[in-house]
Amino acid sequence: MKLVDNKATLSFSNGSPSVDMPVYAGSIGPDVIDIRKLYAQTGMFTYDPGFLSTASCQSAITYIDGDKGELLYRGYPIEQLATNCDYLDTCYLLLNGDLPNDKQRGDFHKLVINHTMVNEQMQFFLRGFRRDAHPMAVLTGLVGGLSAFYHDSTDINNPEHRHVAAIRLIAKMPTLVAMAYKYGVGQPYMYPKNDLSYSGNFLRMMFGTPCEEYKVNPVLERALDRIFILHADHEQNASTSTVRLCGSSGTNPFAAIAAGVACLWGPAHGGANEACLNMLEDIQRQGGVAKVGEFMEKVKDKNSGVKLMGFGHRVYKNYDPRAKLMQETCDEVLKELGLENDPLFKLAKELERIALEDEYFVSRKLYPNVDFYSGIVQRAIGIPVNLFTGIFALARTVGWIAQLNEMISDPEYKIGRPRQLFTGAERRDVPAGFKR
Ligand SMILES: CC(C)(COP(=O)(O)OP(=O)(O)OC[C@H]1O[C@@H](n2cnc3c(N)ncnc32)[C@H](O)[C@@H]1OP(=O)(O)O)[C@@H](O)C(=O)NCCC(=O)NCCS
Repeated sequence: MKLVDNKATLSFSNGSPSVDMPVYAGSIGPDVIDIRKLYAQTGMFTYDPGFLSTASCQSAITYIDGDKGELLYRGYPIEQLATNCDYLDTCYLLLNGDLPNDKQRGDFHKLVINHTMVNEQMQFFLRGFRRDAHPMAVLTGLVGGLSAFYHDSTDINNPEHRHVAAIRLIAKMPTLVAMAYKYGVGQPYMYPKNDLSYSGNFLRMMFGTPCEEYKVNPVLERALDRIFILHADHEQNASTSTVRLCGSSGTNPFAAIAAGVACLWGPAHGGANEACLNMLEDIQRQGGVAKVGEFMEKVKDKNSGVKLMGFGHRVYKNYDPRAKLMQETCDEVLKELGLENDPLFKLAKELERIALEDEYFVSRKLYPNVDFYSGIVQRAIGIPVNLFTGIFALARTVGWIAQLNEMISDPEYKIGRPRQLFTGAERRDVPAGFKR
């Protein structure tokens, strides 16, 4: 970041002395006012719950222009990456800052593929869970549990450990997600097969059985790979900030990523695709497209507590570029599977059409986000609804790791420790005679 020829001056109406604060510019996006000395100079904190105006770090990984509806990974537009690269190219890019050349590409693919197996003991750990446990509950445990299996890569301050942990996590997440699924349905685990692509291997571990050969469908393979690319990183969102905050204490990378998995689970974040599909199924049960108008009235009624899931975003105040790509993939997958007349897809398109014309959504700049169509694609592929967020966690692992590594390598990094505006009881004494 560079100091700009500008400063912010904060003055107070009560006559307290004003303070000057430096302003820094990034390469694109809003400048920031450096308030780090504010408390020392004034004895006051700033107040910004939800980080509406606060940059928590400097980062060179992902940039979102919410007004334009633009998403860049290391400067490359998401549309170009989704069309020209595969997920592992995207992982390399996020981790290393640039796209790989042919040799780097081959080496990186090989490296990841060679780490897809998990310690056999993980199976017995998994057995401790109920078969009907939510996959995100299982994944939070399994990912955290990796630190108990891979002691040699748990020092977050050692770059070599961080590199090894990054590769292990990217390579093993598909195996763990597929194991969580197989455990739930009571089928044997499928060991990874390293001559398949990253997403092809995942499809086989999910839907293959030891009884017969599994043939990977290239359209579904490409669709899944695109889902992974679109979810790979998204700058300082709730789960990424959780990973940074958790990692800032010096905890090991597996523990920090497990914290990210737990945060992602919430319906306002990664759980939105599951919530969106449940919403579409609910409307379909109540009459489908004919009931869309009625449902929209509920969404607009603040007292109903009903939201149009898959719509709205803290940063995008325009069409989420990932939603467009996802809609394209949705068309391709449904066509491939002969499901062009899928009623949920029709319903989603009708909801989108109405919302984009409705004053409520237009005035609040609410547009479809990536989750609006990703649930329909995943369901068509055969992924159960309660595993959608697990797929998101698998894809986002690389983003979490890249952001964690960036934080640890930043000389300005400190343990994260927000302040508060205390509104509770002032000091008081335990009543005499309370002790029994
Ligand atoms: C993503 C989300 C949490 C962003 O929240 P936010 O930045 O805090 O925005 P707000 O909740 O302040 O929303 C601004 C306004 O739009 C409304 N709004 C936002 N998303 C809405 C939705 N999906 N349906 C109906 N109204 C919505 C809010 O009620 C608010 O209205 P108001 O100004 O009259 O009070 C929110 O849009 C949401 O819950 N969306 C549905 C869940 C989802 O799809 N999440 C996935 C994100 S990738």
